[in-house]
Amino acid sequence: MSTDKLQVAIDGPASAGKSTVAKLIAKRFGYVYCDTGAMYRSITLKVIQEGIALDDEPAIVDVLNHTTIDFKPGDPNQLVFLDHHDVTNAIRSEQVTNSVSTVAALPGVRTNLVDQQRNIASHGGVVMDGRDIGTTVLPDADLKIFLVASVSERAERRFKDNAEKGIHTPIKELEAEIATRDYKDSHRKVSPLVKAADAIEINTTQMTIDDVVAEISKLMENKLNNN
Ligand code: DC
Repeated sequence: MSTDKLQVAIDGPASAGKSTVAKLIAKRFGYVYCDTGAMYRSITLKVIQEGIALDDEPAIVDVLNHTTIDFKPGDPNQLVFLDHHDVTNAIRSEQVTNSVSTVAALPGVRTNLVDQQRNIASHGGVVMDGRDIGTTVLPDADLKIFLVASVSERAERRFKDNAEKGIHTPIKELEAEIATRDYKDSHRKVSPLVKAADAIEINTTQMTIDDVVAEISKLMENKLNNN
């Protein structure tokens, strides 16, 4: 896709800094930010609330066909609505975090959500973050970034985020959870987490958020100047 408004795909494992960076880039360029993880989290929350087994694909796809997931601007963060209820905080609970990989591995769930994600991106001017954006959702994205960071650095980031919310899970437990989620996300049959051949890898372990935003912004400026 080549317009004056780019499609930017940002993929990578859990807690690599994707959403923080994607939000800032979208704001700087006046683009739409689409957090695809929030969509998988929202359907997972509904599945938990309705008491459906996390791997009951037919039941979950049926629920998804009667579910709306919307994003609305908020200050400072975008808000997520599930069937018109604000679930911005609820989808970040530990229960949802530890259940979402199972739901996200179901092919029927992915087909439905990928369709919605392509619609959101169809006019360009979008920064979309997830696991399969550069490989499956937007294979023709103008710029593909793959963010990585060590497991210990990612656990530390989550530890700090959690502390701000009053959650005090030990760091070793967070490391184990992140490693488990990496494994599940990378080994599922449909759209596993994998770097697209034409993605640019950025290792954020030793970088500040501002450094990462500056590097991606430079890559975007280059693309825009060459269009
Ligand atoms: O980025 P996140 O932690 O909010 O994502 C939550 C889960 O959703 C994660 O375990 C993997 C899954 N996911 C996915 O399978 N595909 C995406 N495009 C985005 C997220």
